[in-house]
Amino acid sequence: MARQQAFVLFELMNAMVVTAREAKARGHRVVALNHDPLRDSGPFAVADGLVDEVVHVESWADQAEVDSVLKDVASRYEVVGTHSVFEATLPAQAALRTAAGLPTTSVADVRRVLDKARVRAKLYAEGLSTLKSVPLDVALGWTRWEFDRAAVLKPVNGTGSALCFEVSTTAELHDAVARVHSVHVVNPLMREYIFANGGFVLEEKAEGELLSVESMVHRGHVGFVALTGRYVLAADPVVEQGTQIPYHHPHHDAIVARTEAVHRSLGIHHGGTHVEVMVDDDGTVELIDFNPRSAGFGSPVATGAAFGIDYGKVLTDIGCGIEPDLSFARRDSGFAVEMVVLPPPGATEFRSIEFPSHCLAPRATKSPGERLTGRADQLDAIGMFIVTGATASQAHEAGLAARREVVFNGARLGDNPNNSVAYSTFIGQDLPSPFPTRNSDG
Ligand SMILES: Nc1ncnc2c1ncn2[C@@H]1O[C@H](COP(=O)(O)OP(=O)(O)O)[C@@H](O)[C@H]1O
Ligand SMILES: [Mg+2]
Repeated sequence: MARQQAFVLFELMNAMVVTAREAKARGHRVVALNHDPLRDSGPFAVADGLVDEVVHVESWADQAEVDSVLKDVASRYEVVGTHSVFEATLPAQAALRTAAGLPTTSVADVRRVLDKARVRAKLYAEGLSTLKSVPLDVALGWTRWEFDRAAVLKPVNGTGSALCFEVSTTAELHDAVARVHSVHVVNPLMREYIFANGGFVLEEKAEGELLSVESMVHRGHVGFVALTGRYVLAADPVVEQGTQIPYHHPHHDAIVARTEAVHRSLGIHHGGTHVEVMVDDDGTVELIDFNPRSAGFGSPVATGAAFGIDYGKVLTDIGCGIEPDLSFARRDSGFAVEMVVLPPPGATEFRSIEFPSHCLAPRATKSPGERLTGRADQLDAIGMFIVTGATASQAHEAGLAARREVVFNGARLGDNPNNSVAYSTFIGQDLPSPFPTRNSDG
């Protein structure tokens, strides 16, 4: 009997459900390989009947288990497409795609791009990065600071910006190492991914504006989707508070050219990518983090809303090895702002959250009754939502206004210090589109 065609999602979570729905609409069986249970509430709830089979994966760090899951899935289904946004699953996705004859970046190249030490060393050797880096063991042997500037200590296999520390002396480095061992990474999947390798890299700190570049790579061709600008917490800029997409930028061409060169250097052959770069005032572009997967959070919804398309179709096409139509990226578009909100100072328990009615994909990121830490770190966020505008300035103003109107435990968030965001210069600015052919049909 012919095997059934299946679309396989690795660790189906959050807005990945948009892709699952499109795959289902195309008539594929939808299979989820998951450690975590499927979400059953909120805008990204997995509706009954959407997923045909869930295969439980006890540990993505257990290679023998992962291999046997892949073998089983490949024997029972004809795999016609895949989708994943969680780093720990990406080598497994590449292996399944290889077995199924789908276009993919090789397992070896996926493993290398996930290794921040190897990425930095390769790009530095090729002149695509000016940041020096050393493995932590080497830096721990330093008797004096050997870089010309401050540095960031980060996991070789990082995710979710966890365990990144800025240091500029050997004493600070030793303190940061002590903190690595004392800080508890709350999310078990993230913790397992970081510590399965366990290595850390110390790399020079880049200066400038952090933004990201979203692309869809089809069989070696890097298709540009959009730049994304960032909101951060005013009191602590490492805490991400939101994004604006698309994000027109005066150094657009330099950013895209450098990002394409980095894709080529790292052997990225197929799939969505979400690349974080830092851009300084004169347009110098430094790679910060190469994610060989599409953007997380509610990005598929925000991207679709900004461009007036169903981004699930693009993600499903790429997943199935079908060349996606990216012409939307070059046309005039609206704008979307996705916001992350924190509890107000002093809050100790999450009871409820309500969002203005025009918000898209409004969702709580804590459960009723959950204790709050009293801090305002990334993982203390209580909710997320998306708003849109016809122009960048309208989307920006709508985003800031909606933040104030969010009601937490019965009270408006208003202008409390944990609701005060900073953002890069060009956020909310109505800059010209980088594409001169916009609005033309040809
Ligand atoms: N070399 C660097 N220079 C400046 N900032 C950095 C550097 N490396 C990391 N960062 C900061 O730390 C954050 C997390 O690092 P990143 O490599 O993106 O880790 P993750 O894979 O966990 O997302 C980045 O978004 C950036 O704000
Ligand atoms: Mg990152």
